[in-house]
Amino acid sequence: MGTSSAPVDPYHAGMGRVFSGIKPTGPVTLGNYLGALRTWVDAQDADDCVYCVVDLHALTVPSDPAQLRALTLELATVLVAIGLDPRRCTLFVQGHVHEHAELAWLMECTASVGELRRMTQFKEKSDDQHFVSAGLFTYPALMAADILLYDTDRVPVGDDQRQHLELTRDLAERFNSRFGATFVVPEAAVPPVAARVMDLQDPTRKMSKTEESPQGVVLLLDEPASIERKIRRAVTDTGTDVRYDPVAKPGVSNLLAILGAATGRHPAAVAEGYDRYGPLKADCAAAVVELLRPVQARYAELVADPAEVTTILRAGADKAQAVAGPTLARARSAVGLLPR
Ligand code: TYM
Repeated sequence: MGTSSAPVDPYHAGMGRVFSGIKPTGPVTLGNYLGALRTWVDAQDADDCVYCVVDLHALTVPSDPAQLRALTLELATVLVAIGLDPRRCTLFVQGHVHEHAELAWLMECTASVGELRRMTQFKEKSDDQHFVSAGLFTYPALMAADILLYDTDRVPVGDDQRQHLELTRDLAERFNSRFGATFVVPEAAVPPVAARVMDLQDPTRKMSKTEESPQGVVLLLDEPASIERKIRRAVTDTGTDVRYDPVAKPGVSNLLAILGAATGRHPAAVAEGYDRYGPLKADCAAAVVELLRPVQARYAELVADPAEVTTILRAGADKAQAVAGPTLARARSAVGLLPR
C-alpha cells in the first residue's frame, strides 16, 4: 500500500538519482565488480545513490531457502566491503520494501507479452530448462519497478542489462502517456571498459555467478593463489601477438580489458606493452589480486560482526521506503485504484 504519510524524501534535492541492483544467486564475480559494482562506489560522491540486493529476482529460478538467506547477507556484506558507505548511499534488500512487488504488478500490466518474449536474457535462461517460472518471464517488469520507484536518472549496469533498461524506458514512457506524468525516464550508464567481462575458459561466454565454470570465473572472495591460477590458465587465442581485438582474439582481449579496468587504462593502450601472452597473464593476475586485496580484508572484518551489516540494511530499507511509498501512491492513483 502506498504510504502517503511517509516522511519527506530524505535525499538532497537537485542531485541526480542513481539506482542499481544485483541478484543474490551466487558469489560475486570479477565481472560484477568491474562491470557494475565499482561504478556504484564511484557514483556515491557525485550522486544520490540507492543500491539494492534484489532477492525477489533470485526467486525466479529454483532456489534453496537457507542458501538464499545466506547469499543475501553475504552479498550485502560484500557491497559494504567494496566501499558502499551507508552515510553516502542507501543500501537495502528489495524484499524489505514491499512497494517493489506491488509496483511490479502495475508494470506487468503495462508491458506486453510480445516485448517480454523478445528479452534475450529470458531466452537464454529458459532454454533447455524443464521448469520455467512465470516470474522469470515477467522479471523485467519487476526490474522496471525497482528503478522507477526511486525517480531514477541513471542506472549503472554492465552491458548485459542494456535491453532491460530499454524496456524500462519504454514502460515509463507508455505509463506516462496513458496516465499522465508519473515516472522519471531513466538512462543506462555502462562503463567504457569491462562492461562485459568474459569467462576465462570460454571467452565467447559472459563471466557469470551462476555458470558451472569454476576455473573460468574469478570470484571477488577468491584466494590470491586461486586468482593467479585461473588467470594463468585462461584460454588464449591462436597466434602469439597481443592486440585488442575482441572478435578475432576474444581470450587475449578479455585479459587486456581486465588489466585495463584494474589499472585505469584502455585495453588497446595496455596491449602496446606486450608481445607475449605469459607476461600479460602475470601482470593481469597481479593487478586483480591487488585490486581485490582491500575488499577481501574489509570483508573479513565485517563477517566477524554481522550485526553491523544487518543494522545498515534495516536503516537502508527505511530510507528507501520513504521514497518508494509516495511513488507507488502516485502510480496507484494514476491508474485509478480507489484509495482505501
Ligand atoms: P546481475 O545480478 O546478473 O549482475 C549485477 C551487475 O553486474 C553486471 N555484470 C557484468 N558486468 C560485466 N561483465 C560481466 N561478466 C557481468 N556479469 C554481470 C550486470 O550487468 C549488473 O549490472 N537484472 C539485474 C539485477 C537488477 C537490476 C535492477 C539492475 C534487478 N533490478 C534494477 C539494475 C536496476 C541482474 O540480473 O544483474
